[in-house]
Amino acid sequence: MIEISQLSNLRGQLRRWRAAGETLALIPTMGNLHAGHLQLVRTARQQADRCVVSLFVNPMQFGEGEDYASYPRTYEDDKEKLREVGADLLYAPSVDEVYPKGDRGRTRVEVPGISEILCGASRPAHFVGVSTVVCKFFNMIQPNLAVFGEKDYQQLMVIRQMVEDLCIPVEVVGVPTVREPDGLALSSRNGYLTHEERSIANCLYKTLLKTAAAIERADSDYPRLEEEASTELKAVGFRPDYFSIRSALDLSTPDPDAPELVILSAAWLGKARLIDNLRVTRNTPV
Ligand code: PAJ
Repeated sequence: MIEISQLSNLRGQLRRWRAAGETLALIPTMGNLHAGHLQLVRTARQQADRCVVSLFVNPMQFGEGEDYASYPRTYEDDKEKLREVGADLLYAPSVDEVYPKGDRGRTRVEVPGISEILCGASRPAHFVGVSTVVCKFFNMIQPNLAVFGEKDYQQLMVIRQMVEDLCIPVEVVGVPTVREPDGLALSSRNGYLTHEERSIANCLYKTLLKTAAAIERADSDYPRLEEEASTELKAVGFRPDYFSIRSALDLSTPDPDAPELVILSAAWLGKARLIDNLRVTRNTPV
């Protein structure tokens, strides 16, 4: 596996691969890699000749008082995992390389509407930071395809909309959420949980499953289902940010007969803000 931190070197290497007719996949990450990230790499390897993983803790997507400084940085471990899973290139630029003139007052990419709801409501500058950095990585690497996790469902939709609106010639591939045996979605932030918190953390997924089962039984009183789920989460010790049933197509508030839904939640457990989601298809009577 080739390791590169400078854009000029990266471009040289990618030119050689492209000249040989090879296709490129990009997997953008912030490191502290787990089996969810590695699943993205495996998916990329099946769909492209060369697999480039970026590792960059992006300051622009962290708000004031958030965990940018303490975000786990585990470069040597990450490198080893990527080598084992067969990534071809690890691109780990410095903040100066990505934002040579800083990240304030420079060109930014904003995907309106969808960036302002759910996670965007409580983290106002977050998705501008995400779409800007992902757009920059798309321009630096110019991959044929880019792989993202469905665990960050709203992020995936923001990226898809950016690609569509800006005519970016990158195919965006989504990968189902990888979970712990008890259902907890793998996340780089799960390490913030204490032993006791970890033992109840999978209640978030259990609550999503319970709500999905109610919807499948044709319960379409979504405000009540959301309220009940939030109450249950609070009862076990979470501080829910939101628990919301939305249209899977555009995250709008669904009509009672909308068939394709997604249930999304963000909830604090101690120092960790956990997010998760579950797609559900409503049975339409024939
Ligand atoms: P990060 O949290 O490191 O996640 C990198 C990628 O891994 C994202 O596409 C995310 O959805 C995916 N991922 C995380 N946990 C997963 C899981 N349990 N199963 C499957 N995929 C999972 O998301 C980011 O970084 C950043 O916002 C980034 C896109 C890199 C921009 O800075």
